[in-house]
Amino acid sequence: MSNFTTLNEFILDRQGDFPFASGELTRLLNDIGVASKIVNKEVRRAGLGNILGKAGNNNIQGEEQQKLDVYANNEFINVFKYGGEVCGIASEENDDFLPFEHPNSRDGKYVVAFDPLDGSSNIDVNVSIGTIFSIYRRISTEGAAHLEDFLQAGTKQVAAGYVIYGSSTMLVYTTGKGVNGFTLEPSIGEFCLSHPNIKMPEDGRLYSFNEGNYNTFSKGLQKYCDWVKEEDPATGRPYSCRYIASMVADIHRNLIKGGVFCYPATAGSPKGKLRLIYECNPMAFIVEQAGGIATTGHERILDIKPSQLHQRVPALMGSKNMVNKVLAMIEQFEKVKVDN
Ligand code: AHG
Ligand code: MN
Ligand code: MN
Repeated sequence: MSNFTTLNEFILDRQGDFPFASGELTRLLNDIGVASKIVNKEVRRAGLGNILGKAGNNNIQGEEQQKLDVYANNEFINVFKYGGEVCGIASEENDDFLPFEHPNSRDGKYVVAFDPLDGSSNIDVNVSIGTIFSIYRRISTEGAAHLEDFLQAGTKQVAAGYVIYGSSTMLVYTTGKGVNGFTLEPSIGEFCLSHPNIKMPEDGRLYSFNEGNYNTFSKGLQKYCDWVKEEDPATGRPYSCRYIASMVADIHRNLIKGGVFCYPATAGSPKGKLRLIYECNPMAFIVEQAGGIATTGHERILDIKPSQLHQRVPALMGSKNMVNKVLAMIEQFEKVKVDN
């Protein structure tokens, strides 16, 4: 046990990566660790204590909020609000961003965008869920946060990561210098370094698409879905379909084992379903830092300049060679369309 590096020790050790840092990002990352443990405690006893089920209201995207969505949202907001390092937050569960005034003290240097509970449809059935976070340095110069602070391209992220409440609870994050994963050791209540310097395999045989939407996928994507099912021992096909419907869990698995995740534009979600600022950008930052690719199918996710807080984009991310194969098929069939 004494050989374990805790999250707090690790973050402090890495402070040297930011020579001009004054410790605020370190404190903010530690705060996220604390909020994750609070939410984890509730997730782990979710069948008890009347925490399962719907909260009785919808969020701005018309999705029905679950009690745990609301609980996790409140816990993270409290930690950010009273931690003092951020001047505002944006959350999937809040219509607008929340500006924080810090009277009689310095203004927070950062803003955080987050999805407090990802995969809410899995809460009641005991399947992995997560939390996703993305940290930016503010653009505005003083006082509470402004909208522009949140509408920055993903390349401007200072740090990002996720917590997965799975068979164990893990926190995985990057500050742009590789990806590291920590497993919560419940007996001491600490996240301990368990997956140093995660590198995503360049190839894999797992594909994670909701194929129920196949009929409304683009031609290229449909062809890819057909291709993965063909028998070809040389390329390890047929591939295996693995789709949990918690983006965090699907991407986490593919990060470790190799695979490709896609939530494209569909008839039901013509712009894609996943949100750019607090789902796609942080996961794209992690995937790229682990050596993978994250794209909409037409452009790098991290390069998009957001125009709205809750903007959705198509998402295709994962192992380098697998994503490139999907892109090649998309391109091939778009070319056929133009040529005809
Ligand atoms: P959230 O629970 O935060 O709304 O996110 C759920 C998202 C994402 O995690 C997952 O990949 C996707 O919705 C699943 O959607 P489908 O059920 O349409 O496949
Ligand atoms: Mn989500
Ligand atoms: Mn959510």
